[in-house]
Amino acid sequence: MTVMTMRKRVAIFISGRGSNMMSLINASKMPDYPADIVLVISDNADADGLIFAKKNNIPAVVVTKKEYAHKTDYDNALDLTCKNHHIDIICLAGFMRLLSADFCDKWTGKMINIHPSLLPAFRGLDTHKRAIECGVKFSGCSVHYVTAGMDEGDIIAQAALKIMPSDTADTLSKRILKLEHTLYPNVLKTICTQDHHDISFFEQDIL
Ligand code: GRF
Repeated sequence: MTVMTMRKRVAIFISGRGSNMMSLINASKMPDYPADIVLVISDNADADGLIFAKKNNIPAVVVTKKEYAHKTDYDNALDLTCKNHHIDIICLAGFMRLLSADFCDKWTGKMINIHPSLLPAFRGLDTHKRAIECGVKFSGCSVHYVTAGMDEGDIIAQAALKIMPSDTADTLSKRILKLEHTLYPNVLKTICTQDHHDISFFEQDIL
């Protein structure tokens, strides 16, 4: 017997390139994927990701901070836009703004982010450069629930690789981005189906 579950309505927040957004949109095209990407929000009108969203007929809304006097008003506008689209889950994908505690509280357990390091190491920016400079031997990416603290929420899953002696910040970033594009759609799937089996993996598992 096939159990029919309602596909979740997902919003993706971006600021730029949007390659993780694309991986989520592409995954959602599979008939058995438990989510539809029904909204893309960008805080940057020039974000490249907006073009892909529009080509895929996904409503893409630009909400810039400069339209609002206060951060609270800005976050309320994001919240209202999501509510108007009946969003169940928010995926942050390269969204370069910190969301207020109030916004994070409203979306507790329903908002996730992808970060290009093995958290809790290397929160924030320039993760690949910092990982190489520190001499760590492994790096990777993490998907975690979003809380008000930067990259601090509970970790859901990670993908790891060995840093090569020849890696630069640029090559490491490209290698990890490949892992991100597999990890993020898999995490969203498990969250939507409440199927919390461990989906963390090593680079060699997907090569
Ligand atoms: C990714 O590396 C993601 O982990 C980080 O920002 C980058 C966004 O890249 N949060 P893209 O816009 O998804 O291509």
